[in-house]
Amino acid sequence: MTDRESGLVEPVDVDALVQRLEQARAELEERLEGAGDPAQLEELRVRYLGRRSLVAQALSALGRVPAADRPRLGRTANEVRQAMADALEAHRQRLLAAEKERRLAAEALDLTLPGRPPLLGRRHPLRIVLEEIEDIFLSMGFTIAGGPEVEYSSLNFDLLNIPPDHPARDMQDSFYIDASRLLRTHTSPVQIRYMQAHAPRLPVRIIAPGRVFRRDDDPTHSPVFHQVEGLLVDRGVSMAHLKGTLLAFARRLFGPETRIRLRPSYFPFTEPSAEVDVSCTSCGGAGCRVCGGSGWLEILGCGMVHPQVLRNGGYDPEEVSGFAFGMGVERIAMLRYGIDDLRRFFQNDLRFLEQFE
Ligand code: PHE
Repeated sequence: MTDRESGLVEPVDVDALVQRLEQARAELEERLEGAGDPAQLEELRVRYLGRRSLVAQALSALGRVPAADRPRLGRTANEVRQAMADALEAHRQRLLAAEKERRLAAEALDLTLPGRPPLLGRRHPLRIVLEEIEDIFLSMGFTIAGGPEVEYSSLNFDLLNIPPDHPARDMQDSFYIDASRLLRTHTSPVQIRYMQAHAPRLPVRIIAPGRVFRRDDDPTHSPVFHQVEGLLVDRGVSMAHLKGTLLAFARRLFGPETRIRLRPSYFPFTEPSAEVDVSCTSCGGAGCRVCGGSGWLEILGCGMVHPQVLRNGGYDPEEVSGFAFGMGVERIAMLRYGIDDLRRFFQNDLRFLEQFE
């Protein structure tokens, strides 16, 4: 019913008005059943209780009805207004409750759902190989030593007998911090650090694993990679000890059939120096694609500690001798697992990393 249809004109027919007020109240209650959201509710409130509603008109007509009819109309109009307000409020509460119910249902805790297993981390393949290497040398009586990644160039080069014109010193090959410091290019400065801290005690028997840095970046070279240094100094240490130690190491790491060979080489801090090859981990030495048909794979550099390096460490080369070696962890891990691209170690691709251990 619209306001216009209410037809409030003088004189006021009080009986008819009272009847229509009661009708409007019943009508609202009926319409509320179909009001499903707050907007519809507001629409009904304006229509039935607003300024131009029948209730408002009835109240404003009070002054114009005979005094005898006034209480009856006033009471009815007020009762109807109150009842309508109550009905609107009650429905509003019902809508709120229903909404809350819906939301709770959406968030309901389903105890029968399978749990989400926590994502377990695992060791990086380089870490696995490094720990294997460490275990092998620890079992042979070596201990683990370390040094800083930002190193003095004197320790990285000079005290290792590396001459001033050596190409490794070039800015193109190393990351310099300032005139006297750089990111170490190998773990060999730990030889000097350890000897200086321990001289004249014997034996010196350490490995020094760690991160090293060079200006290299291609499928087989990364600017950051890992080495394990080895150093043994004692009375009467010979090249035979070096070879025996490395053979034992290679057999533990690559299998009991593994053979090694030493090829003459050059490092400023060892004399004589050698490159060590292991029999190919893929073909056993017959020759295949992995070893380029030669049957051998290069795994490390080594040699007898140069007398000047022993002196720089605080030892007398007339009394003691020693051997040292240095291996690249990435290279060994690649051979160990048949990985073809060194960069895979640093790309953090889970499909790769999940295959180890
Ligand atoms: N420091 C050498 C390199 O980085 C490896 C090495 C270590 C060689 C110890 C001999 C003795 O290539």
